[in-house]
Amino acid sequence: MRKVRLGKTGEQIPVLGQGTMGIKAGKDKEYYEKWKDSLKKGIELGMTHIDTAELYNRGTSEKVIGEAIKEYDRDDIFITSKLFPKHFGYKSMIKACSKSLERLDIKYLDLYLVHFPSFVFSKIKKHMRVMEQLLNEGKIRYIGVSNYSIDQFKKGQENLKKAEIVANQLHANIVRQKHIHNSLPYYKKEGVILTAYSPLSHRGYTNLKGDLRQKLDHVAKLHNASIQQIALAWLINHENVIAIPKAFQIQHIEANAAAADIDLSEEEIKQFYNK
Ligand SMILES: NC(=O)c1ccc[n+]([C@@H]2O[C@H](COP(=O)([O-])OP(=O)(O)OC[C@H]3O[C@@H](n4cnc5c(N)ncnc54)[C@H](OP(=O)(O)O)[C@@H]3O)[C@@H](O)[C@H]2O)c1
Repeated sequence: MRKVRLGKTGEQIPVLGQGTMGIKAGKDKEYYEKWKDSLKKGIELGMTHIDTAELYNRGTSEKVIGEAIKEYDRDDIFITSKLFPKHFGYKSMIKACSKSLERLDIKYLDLYLVHFPSFVFSKIKKHMRVMEQLLNEGKIRYIGVSNYSIDQFKKGQENLKKAEIVANQLHANIVRQKHIHNSLPYYKKEGVILTAYSPLSHRGYTNLKGDLRQKLDHVAKLHNASIQQIALAWLINHENVIAIPKAFQIQHIEANAAAADIDLSEEEIKQFYNK
């Protein structure tokens, strides 16, 4: 699995990780065992970055991941979780991180993101203070944000004393290209990773039609790949972009891992631009 540098750190992160928003609550044992098998398959294929959040089915995703990673060396797995900004108080934010760690049954998060920006800049300041404290206490290794505009990102960075924000997790895929065109140039310049969430437009392009479908079919044929693999390859063939597809089915996990090896030409990448 190809890796890229995480921000300006010495850390290398796989270009494709695993999303886990779809892990449902209240299901039977068999369902969770199947999820754990899927996550482990992904890890074995190099997708060692696992993305979760306290928000995902009220901690269910974090719990299932915690069980799935038990048999691995902690250093070999990269866990991202997210602070949901429903916590307004300083103490309740610190507690939210502890709860995530408890559910995951780990001592530290590799990357902790503020899930959504606050629309009042002073809240961003407060979030960053909490993030830096968690970093200094060793509860998290790196600080990131999600769904932040460039202005909000700058405000966040200004409010950190020493640390740097290493990544912004944004909605980006071959259909929704706004952040690739408008935000990526800034993050590239700043050496920040853009993590593309919902890289398969949430539903996996099962009913995609029209011009995009035709282009994807054409390029997929040339690379002996599926359209979903081309859609993922398109994202991660952009410098500073990593992606976190969610896949429950083992054949999807295998296909996604293989997509990391697809090299698209400049021309192939550009033909999909919709701007
Ligand atoms: N920061 C945020 O605000 C935010 C928001 C949304 C999502 N996220 C993160 O991003 C992750 C991914 O986004 P998402 O869950 O919206 O969905 P997604 O990854 O865009 O798409 C998931 C769908 O694609 C299917 N799929 C996966 N690989 C495939 C393949 N190779 N071929 C065909 N179909 C394939 C999956 O099927 P199966 O599951 O049946 O295999 C599932 O139906 C989330 O799980 C979450 O971790 C973050």
